[in-house]
Amino acid sequence: EPNSTKTSSNGVAPLTPVLTRRWLSPESWGLRTYEQLEGYSALRKALGAHPDQLITLMKDSGLRGRGGAGFPTGMKWGFIPQGDGKPHYLVINADEGEPGTCKDVPLMMADPHSLIEGVVITSYAIRANFAAIYVRGEALHCIRRLTAAVNEAYRAGYLGKNILGSGFDLDVVVHAGAGAYICGEETALLDSLEGKRGQPRLKPPFPATAGLYSSPTVVNNVETIASVPYIVNGGSDWFRKMGRERSPGPKIYSLSGHVERPGQYEAPMGTTLRELLELAGGMKDGIPLKFWTPGGSSTPLFTAEHLDVPLDFEGAAEAGSMLGTTALQIFNETVSVPWAVMKWTEFYKHESCGKCTPCREGTYWLVQILQRMVRGEGLESDIETLLDVCDNILGRSFCALGDGAVSPITSAIKYFKQEFLDLCEKNRNGTAADPASPALAGAR
Ligand code: NAI
Ligand code: SF4
Repeated sequence: EPNSTKTSSNGVAPLTPVLTRRWLSPESWGLRTYEQLEGYSALRKALGAHPDQLITLMKDSGLRGRGGAGFPTGMKWGFIPQGDGKPHYLVINADEGEPGTCKDVPLMMADPHSLIEGVVITSYAIRANFAAIYVRGEALHCIRRLTAAVNEAYRAGYLGKNILGSGFDLDVVVHAGAGAYICGEETALLDSLEGKRGQPRLKPPFPATAGLYSSPTVVNNVETIASVPYIVNGGSDWFRKMGRERSPGPKIYSLSGHVERPGQYEAPMGTTLRELLELAGGMKDGIPLKFWTPGGSSTPLFTAEHLDVPLDFEGAAEAGSMLGTTALQIFNETVSVPWAVMKWTEFYKHESCGKCTPCREGTYWLVQILQRMVRGEGLESDIETLLDVCDNILGRSFCALGDGAVSPITSAIKYFKQEFLDLCEKNRNGTAADPASPALAGAR
């Protein structure tokens, strides 16, 4: 049972350590600790079931993809054609690269065997005999830890030939990316795994029908697959008791920025920032909240108005955002919105893969304009130009990176237009070129 420690005013239990339940155990990453704390018991159970029963279980549980988009996991597994004579693959997207997003690396560092156990169960369910875990190249410490855990699992008979005497074979490879954000896009990731330049493919076909080496492939996020063993052991009803009807289960929320205790907070889907702030000790030094992101930098900026938005797929959508990666970046009143938006846009420009014109050229122009404004050399008309360039990127880009790049800008202008105007005003008065200007406070 999850350890729900208390219940908040709206009836939501703010803490449900499921995925994080072992994180504070000594050597939580080791096989011995994992086995002592029920590790690999779900695998034994799963191998005794028919693969289709596991797919049905996932469908019943309502588990939705934790990489950001929230696609139903059981449905995705169910798309894998059976009896097609082709090899099937499982690919774990561990290329966590969105600014502010920092849940998968801690999970793999603290409890790598929960991911590996989920990988074996999922591969068995979709009839795959090869799985790859594609880890962000910069996370070298994580690649080492995961590789050590995979080796331990091989030695203990949880991977390799005839796993636990079941007749099921599975090989797992930990693959290091080279640090390109675009390789977190699932089809670019697959190209990269195949040894090609990582650039998105046209979808459809989706990977479920034509993925790695054109074979049926399930691509799932780390947190999604690490949830699988708990669902196998706990059952779908248990899982559905947490969270909200259409977004059940626990979720790791990553709080960074101006909070007293930044870090990972596992809570039921639908928990609000107000509740999470309580858990995190409130705003740092009591300085009031100015803006925040609900799910990394590809989601719109939210403000104090959004403190009670339930952070699940539906709640975020009703408030005009995707849930994204539940990377909550919290900024207090000292931070300049145009400066923060400029920094995110510089990231997108740097990471644009260059395949399509709206994103490749558009992010370049957005950076030029934002840098000019932040330097205090902007004109009021630049605000309209920014929105115009955003309009030419949104919905016209080949993949989600382009759309993601415009969200912070359009929402910043919606909620904080005056700050952009103030920078232009200072330009007219010749007072804004000083980077120590109060309007840029927080830029340092
Ligand atoms: P998507 O909605 O296109 O697809 C989601 C998943 O469902 C994919 O695996 C896709 O193959 C599958 N799918 C969708 N429709 C399908 C169909 N008809 N048949 C078979 N499979 C289908 O979303 P996308 O572009 O894959 O991901 C966008 C999300 O990624 C955003 O929410 C964003 O927040 C998140 N993201 C996460 C990052 C991270 O570091 N974790 C970085 C950047 C973005
Ligand atoms: Fe590449 Fe950007 Fe186009 Fe995506 S939107 S394909 S990242 S250029």
